[in-house]
Amino acid sequence: MLFKTTEKHEEFRKKVREFAEAEVKPIAFQLDQNNEFPEEIIKKMASELHIMGVPYPKEYGGLGEDVISYAIAVEELSRVDGGVGVILSAHVSLGSYPIEAFGTEEQKKKYLVPLAKGEKIGAFGLTEPEAGSDAGGTQTTAVLEGDHYILNGGKIFITNAPYADTYVVFAVTHPGIGTHGISAFIVEKGWEGFTFGDHYDKLGIRSSSTAELIFNNVKVPKENLLGKEGQGFRIAMQTLDGGRIGIASQALGIAQGAYEAALKYAKERIQFGKPIAAQQINSFKLAEMATKLRAARFLIYSAAEMKQNHENFGMEAAMAKKYASDKALEIVNDALQIHGGNGYLKGMEVERFYRDAKITTIYEGTNEIMNVVIASNIVGRLGK
Ligand code: CAA
Repeated sequence: MLFKTTEKHEEFRKKVREFAEAEVKPIAFQLDQNNEFPEEIIKKMASELHIMGVPYPKEYGGLGEDVISYAIAVEELSRVDGGVGVILSAHVSLGSYPIEAFGTEEQKKKYLVPLAKGEKIGAFGLTEPEAGSDAGGTQTTAVLEGDHYILNGGKIFITNAPYADTYVVFAVTHPGIGTHGISAFIVEKGWEGFTFGDHYDKLGIRSSSTAELIFNNVKVPKENLLGKEGQGFRIAMQTLDGGRIGIASQALGIAQGAYEAALKYAKERIQFGKPIAAQQINSFKLAEMATKLRAARFLIYSAAEMKQNHENFGMEAAMAKKYASDKALEIVNDALQIHGGNGYLKGMEVERFYRDAKITTIYEGTNEIMNVVIASNIVGRLGK
């Protein structure tokens, strides 16, 4: 187990932080207020930072760095804007990973390379109105007819839609056999019958886009089946294991940003003739925040290291996601409290961090589902 990041990790962090400070921070409030997807920033993340494929091999257009570097990239972007952080996380962990892990050589060349280079944006279509926490309740269908599957149904709450170009979509190919009847497909934007529904107006992470996918007799070429028929649920679960490292990193970054804002404010704000940081009530709050951040960071990096080493890391990723997001909510709350009435005003970073943090306890598996995952690893799948 690693207890310290390497010099290379920290150099990488510095590079992403400088980019985030220079390019994202100045417009984060505008993106939030306008519900604006930062297309130009994403292009620069690809062309200047080359981080759209951080953990993927160079031969497939990636940066060839490790999973900890990927966690650092999401953390550093989220430290200034949680929306930009999740755009990267959903693209790398959910949109690209299943193709890297389960794709054929042809699929990797056709889809992973442009995703890893950042020429295309990726997304993941799992959630449906009746299949949220119960992901196995998928109702979207794919019926094989000759050379194509015919896809019908829809997905909700899809991060990066409608901007994403490539969607990994889960559909039932064999009804009546539960999770074993679900298959995964690579679906391209622009195919006939594939449209988008509502673009959600959200409480936070408003610079990221979230929309519905609608499939009306979409012809998906047979060669776009990802993995084998019936392997889809496993692909989704394995993908989400890794995705949870991304969301934990997003929660950590948001909380880090809120903590730094509170620390600065507490040192500058004078009440009763001295900085409010000199009051023990505030310095102890800051001490608690710093401790939670450090603990979350260790959980995340150790899960990332396990993934990198091809160990079983699903439980550790769930622990990291649950802990980091629960603690992020506590930290943004304390950070806003330290700011007093000023923190409640639009335009204050801490007000945005407060709203951005909440989603991290909900998506990529609610924290209640994280307990299901952790408990099933501890006690086994009793009763199944
Ligand atoms: N890796 C590989 N296989 C796995 C697995 C994993 N992590 N977890 C389960 N499986 C396998 C099981 O071994 C089992 O296989 P067999 O039937 O062959 O034995 C099969 O999958 C079914 O497993 P379960 O019986 O445990 O499945 P379940 O129906 O009880 O569901 C669950 C388990 C953990 C609750 C799962 O449904 C789940 O993770 N739900 C949450 C869904 C979720 O996270 N959604 C997020 C959507 S994406 C998103 O939020 C993105 C965003 O916006 C940014």
